[in-house]
Amino acid sequence: MHPERESPSPHSLDLIISGKIYVEGSLIDAAVGIEDEKIAWIGKLSRAPFAERVIQASEKTLVLPGMVDMHVHMRDLNESDKEDWYTGTLSALAGGVTFVADMPNNQPPARNLEILKAKEEVASKRALVDYGFYAGVPFQSRELERMAAFGLVGLKIYPEDQLREELVDVLREAKRLGLLAVAHAEDPLLLNLAGRLESNSFESHSLRRPAEGEALAIRRLALLSSRIGFRLHLTHLSSAAALRAALKAKLKVGASIDTAIHYLLLDSSTVEKFKGIAKVNPPLRKERDVRLMQRALKSGVLDAIVTDHAPHKLEEKIAENYDRVPAGFPGLELCLPLLMTLVARCEVPLSVLELYSSSPAKLLGVPKGRIKVGSDADLVLMDLGERWRVRGGDMKSKAKYTPFEGFEVVGKVRKVFVRGVQALEDEDVLVNEGYGRRYWSRSENSFFGP
Ligand code: NCD
Ligand code: ZN
Ligand code: ZN
Repeated sequence: MHPERESPSPHSLDLIISGKIYVEGSLIDAAVGIEDEKIAWIGKLSRAPFAERVIQASEKTLVLPGMVDMHVHMRDLNESDKEDWYTGTLSALAGGVTFVADMPNNQPPARNLEILKAKEEVASKRALVDYGFYAGVPFQSRELERMAAFGLVGLKIYPEDQLREELVDVLREAKRLGLLAVAHAEDPLLLNLAGRLESNSFESHSLRRPAEGEALAIRRLALLSSRIGFRLHLTHLSSAAALRAALKAKLKVGASIDTAIHYLLLDSSTVEKFKGIAKVNPPLRKERDVRLMQRALKSGVLDAIVTDHAPHKLEEKIAENYDRVPAGFPGLELCLPLLMTLVARCEVPLSVLELYSSSPAKLLGVPKGRIKVGSDADLVLMDLGERWRVRGGDMKSKAKYTPFEGFEVVGKVRKVFVRGVQALEDEDVLVNEGYGRRYWSRSENSFFGP
């Protein structure tokens, strides 16, 4: 590290972690100093101020920023049998994720301030990592203002919301509040028709929800964004057709885009093998789509990678009747090791981790995902010396299954720090339930919470 990059020394620090530190896509031999929940100093260990605790990471260990997942479903409320804020955030910790942005499709859905407060009531008592909430499209645009005043990281648009009368008003309000509008882009009309057209089998899932439906919805949302001016984010793109439309939306309205880790690694052959376990919306696509998604990743056009951690009960997922099986599966524990495995195989550069840390943090307007003075001291020590095989049954999520079953991955999360406090040591949780804290978007042009 160059001395000029070294920050001025505070008198003393709570904690220093030294080793191979990930800073903006590369590794440097340095030490990170933590004081009062924040990263307070970065420099050479030999020049470090006094610290109460010093951790020297081993040769094979990387010191990474806490990962940021901008698309998860923590369930709870009336679906705590699928996942709750404790098991969901434990799963996050095990995956080196220190901030999760939670979707509003709860039971009941978070489309008003009362439900949002009910979510906070539960999360504030049980979360182990930090978090933020999206609002569902409310029935009146005024409600979005009330929710934003409480604190949000964005608005979430589902396919069926595209048919609602209130949508335009709500999007105008999102623009006024500076809220990110995150869209699940599939066309509801085409979904309805294709659902009638195609047989109801697991193997037909991708025909019943065709890639063209993604492209259609993306074009419609981009048009709305060009007219209204809200910040559009297109989440979990799954197909070549979606990517093509999304790249145009990027150019036209500055939309940001993400894909989920499964669309980068799994194709429809996984559905043949895992049936309902691999049922997800949008569906897993063809090998060609996966290859294109990987090319998009390498070429730097993606703004984020997400898990779309979507836990359901195992008995629901293994039902034989296609219609009965809910879409989605958990992913929080696997995304970082899966990405690290791609890095270890030299298929992608280490800097792809930006898409699961600083880049989504920036989109959401939270001080996370970067090893930088002033950022939250969220750090992950990941041991690259360990290879392990994915076993759904071993996961911390209540949903103990995964279409990645049997994958061999590189890298084990050993220690996790959230705001300077060690929250995980191997299998042991070191913070109390409710340690996690709620954040909301803060940036020049976005609404400030309380
Ligand atoms: C999600 C869920 O289960 O909440 N399911 C899914 O297949 N992705 C909903 C969603 O993200 O669309
Ligand atoms: Zn979705
Ligand atoms: Zn989702």
